[in-house]
Amino acid sequence: MLADMADTLKKLFDKDEIRSAVKRLAEAITRDFDDEELVLVSVLKGSFMFISDLMREIRNPVVVDFIRASSYGSGTATSGQVTLTKDLETDIAGKNVIIIEDIIDSGLTLTAIRELLLARNPRSLKICALVDKRARRKVEIEGDYVGFSIEDGFIVGYGVDYAERYRNLPAIYVVEQE
Ligand code: PRP
Repeated sequence: MLADMADTLKKLFDKDEIRSAVKRLAEAITRDFDDEELVLVSVLKGSFMFISDLMREIRNPVVVDFIRASSYGSGTATSGQVTLTKDLETDIAGKNVIIIEDIIDSGLTLTAIRELLLARNPRSLKICALVDKRARRKVEIEGDYVGFSIEDGFIVGYGVDYAERYRNLPAIYVVEQE
């Protein structure tokens, strides 16, 4: 069974649409940075599938590292609190850094991570997000590279969870709760 009894999943972006979006993003990144080295910072856990596909399509020399900022409990609304539970192991001073996110929602997570990383003096700092969810933004922040822009809806799949479930789904779905 795909979904829990209480959840109805409606497909929003299928595998091909995701693959095209990832390719387009990787091409834009490759074009913007010529042959320069990039440090890709994956924000765990949601972006692990996205970054693994994205980095395979990027032609630059790449260093990958992971950061974990926890803002949600098991519900669907942000708590407004961003806690760093895993830091980078890479020194990003003087480097071209791209933060890789699955979703920008309230913007609080990315704002906190961006501030933290900017204080470490990277040469450049960009944001790449697979899904930009516009309706519930609480702070002004924009992705430099965005795969899909949607208004609202609680989405799962392709790395993204609802209470830790559904991360393994290869497409992106909207959860409709009864
Ligand atoms: C989700 C998502 C983003 C963040 C976006 O992560 O992966 O990191 O929330 O929300 P915001 O713009 O409102 O801050 P979550 O904290 O659920 O952790 P996860 O990636 O481990 O699922």
